[in-house]
This record gives sequence, C-alpha cells and structure tokens, in this order.
Amino acid sequence: MNDFTFYSPTRFVFGRRACDRTGEEVAAAGYRRALIVYGGGSVVRAGTLDRVKASLDAAGVTHVELGGVRPNPEIGLVREGIECARREQVDVVVPVGGGSAIDCAKAIALGACYDGDVWDFFMKRAKPERRLPVAVVLTIPASGSEGSNSCVISNDAEQLKCGINTDLNRPVLAIMDPELTFTLPAYQTAAGVTDMIAHIMERFFSGEPAVPVTDNIACGLIRAAIEAAQTVADDPSDYEARANLMWIGTLAHNGLAGCGLGIPGKRDGDWTCHGLEHELSALDPTITHGAGLAVIFPAWMRFVWRAHPERFLEFGRQVFGIEPVDPEVDDLSGIDEKITPERAVHDAVEATIDELQDFFCSLGMPRTLGDLGVTEEDVDKLMPGLRINRGERFGSCMELTLDDARAIYLSAL
Ligand code: NZQ
Ligand code: ZN
Repeated sequence: MNDFTFYSPTRFVFGRRACDRTGEEVAAAGYRRALIVYGGGSVVRAGTLDRVKASLDAAGVTHVELGGVRPNPEIGLVREGIECARREQVDVVVPVGGGSAIDCAKAIALGACYDGDVWDFFMKRAKPERRLPVAVVLTIPASGSEGSNSCVISNDAEQLKCGINTDLNRPVLAIMDPELTFTLPAYQTAAGVTDMIAHIMERFFSGEPAVPVTDNIACGLIRAAIEAAQTVADDPSDYEARANLMWIGTLAHNGLAGCGLGIPGKRDGDWTCHGLEHELSALDPTITHGAGLAVIFPAWMRFVWRAHPERFLEFGRQVFGIEPVDPEVDDLSGIDEKITPERAVHDAVEATIDELQDFFCSLGMPRTLGDLGVTEEDVDKLMPGLRINRGERFGSCMELTLDDARAIYLSAL
C-alpha cells in the first residue's frame, strides 16, 4: 500500500430539499455576495435557479449571475466571469449545475485572484496561489467536480481542452439534492454513470499492486453504480437509486477510491483514458465526456491488460463475478480445445471488458468512435493536443507512446 494524503475539505450537504438550504449554508460559511454560474437553461426550466436565489435572499446573501455555460465549458465565458466577479466584488462563486458549470466557476474563482490571463494555469505557465471559494449546487452526478481538485476548460481557438489540478479547486461546500436529478435525460444520466465508473477505474488500473481496502471500496462503488443505473433507467424518479448515484459520483473522484494506489506527489492513477477522451471533446465540443469514455475505456483495456492481468482479473471477479476457467476444477466436457492457463486468463479478461462495454451500451452509450461521428481522418487531428497535454509518453498501467494512442483510437473506430 503506497503512501498517500487524502484531503477532502468540502462540506457535503446531502438529501431531499437540500437545495433550499443553499442560502443558510453559504451564509453560515461567512459569505455575503455570490456569483451564481449556470448552464444552458436546465436549472431555469426546472425551477432550481429560482429556489437557490430565494434561499440566498432569505439568508441575506446578495447575488449576481452568469448563465450560458455550455457542456465542455469554454475559456471565453470564464474570462467574462472573472471580470464580473471583480466588478461585483463577490466573495463566493456558486455554480448550479454539473461539471461544466462547476469547472467554469472554479476557473473564475482562480482567475479572479490572479493578475495574468487565467489560461496560463491550464498551460502550466503559472501556478495558482489563491482563489475565491466555490459553493456548488449539484444537478448531475458525473464529473465528481463537486469534491475534486480538478478543473477542465476548453479553448476553441487553440482546439485544446486542458485541466488544472490543485487542492485550491476543491469546493468549500456542495449542496447535493438527488431530487434535482429526476429531470436528467437518460443519455446524460448514462454518460454520468460512465464517467464516475471511469474515475474509479483510472485509479484501480494505476499499475500499482492491490490495496484490498481501496479495491473493495472501488469495486463496491462500481457494483452499486451498475445496480442504481439499471433502476433509474426503468424509473427516472426512483429517489434511492438517484441518491446512490449522486453520492457514488462524489466518492469516485474525491480521492477516496484511490488511496494507496498512487505515487505520492506524482500521480493518483493512470488517467490515459481521460487524456484520450479530452482530445475528442476538444475536437468536437458536442461530444459528451462520459460518452467518449464509454468508447475509449474498453478500447484502452483491450490494448493494455497484458501489462497487469492480475488487476483485470481482480476487477472482473469483484465487479462481475467472472473467474477464469480452472481445468483442474471446472467441468470442461463438451469443450474441444485445450484450455491453457494463459487462454483462461485471456478469456476471463476479455469477458470482463465485454461485460463492461455491454453495460455502457445497454444504457444508451456509444460503442464506437463512428457512433460519435469521429472518422479515421479525425484521429490525426487528435494527436497535437494529446502531445501538449500528455507528452510523448504517458500512462502508468502500461506506458504508452503517441503511436500506441493512435492505435487505440483506430481500434475504437
Ligand atoms: O447546460 P444545461 O442546460 O444545464 O444542461 C446540462 C447539460 O446539457 C444537462 N443537465 C445538467 N443537470 C441537469 C441537466 N438536464 C436536466 N436536468 C438536470 N438536473 O446535462 C448536460 C451536461 O451537463 P454537464 O455539466 O456538461 O455534465 P457533466 O457533469 O458530465 O460535466 C462534464 C464536464 O466536466 C468535465 C468534463 O470534461 C466536461 O467538461 N470533467 C470535470 C472533472 C472535474 N472537474 O473533476 C472530471 C471529469 O473527468 C471531467 O473531465
Ligand atoms: Zn471524467
């Protein structure tokens, strides 16, 4: 078990009608003037924005607002938000939405306390030292941004999508009201489930040896996500299942699911699949992050599993109950070919990956890059951004080159 630091300073306020407690929680934390940040209108239509504003009013917290954050948020609106935050002298940023509104708010919070251009942080030209506090009202379980140290922003002019990881990004408060997620379209729910499972798998497949406590948390979270996702697919208003998904999404990405599986000060997982996916949504911002992951993750697994078959077997065993055939014990009458131990491992791992991919597809996620409208010619366009974001060599489960990345993309077409 490797050394680790687990830091999750966010105050999570979870449950029915938690949304109406936003004002009292923000005021209790000592904030008086908020910049509310939201997306393309779902929170207006659902009445969530009005509820948040009413609760801020009741608690004596004044507010201004910035709407129109698109999925895969863009740096232009972040810059607008920074100007607004300064002009209005806000002391807290309150995103109401999902990863996109939250990350836009996080970038505004960093940029408002920095004299240069906020994009410097994403290009690693400067390191953030201060930020405004961020208090989230979550409307979609997916990114885990409500508890994470990460912020991901696109720059359309440069066709880049880049992240900045710092503990300054961890929100001070997250209001988590599962009833707000009843209105989610099935596709967004599914993309969110895929993303949270991906956050756990990026850590599980770090290439480091097993850590039973963390492996059990990780695989337990994934089993619970699969079960809840199937329930929600049948009944989008099932509170218990929605509540489970919401909390799984947070625990998948606040660091808990990776304790002991990282290298202190260096990395907390493999993160190649996120790297490969971010290039897809940089190329085409209409690609939903979780949908891209549903295609990339199985393709990556098929490419790298031989580097750590023991981890893939453990995953298959714990998540899907898949055991490799044991010719000593299992009844193989009726099977003509000789099952070697290598063949048994191969079959169990491939069956695990098939099962995972079939699960994503059963929720309505794409199976191939073609399903996302990505062509063979597009693959070349993904490589320059990948080189900037990941360098020539990346990945810890198996170290990959840019040529390997290209092969993974091509295998997913
Ligand atoms: O924009 P509106 O109108 O609000 O609609 C949104 C959006 O179209 C809609 N939606 C959200 N809550 C809803 C709802 N519709 C109906 N009812 C509700 N309750 O869902 C769509 C997706 O929203 P978005 O915020 O984009 O989703 P998500 O939470 O998946 O965030 C994706 C972004 O987060 C980044 C992704 O790269 C992507 O840019 N990530 C951020 C991470 C982090 N900061 O830690 C980690 C992740 O790996 C990820 O990279
Ligand atoms: Zn993600």
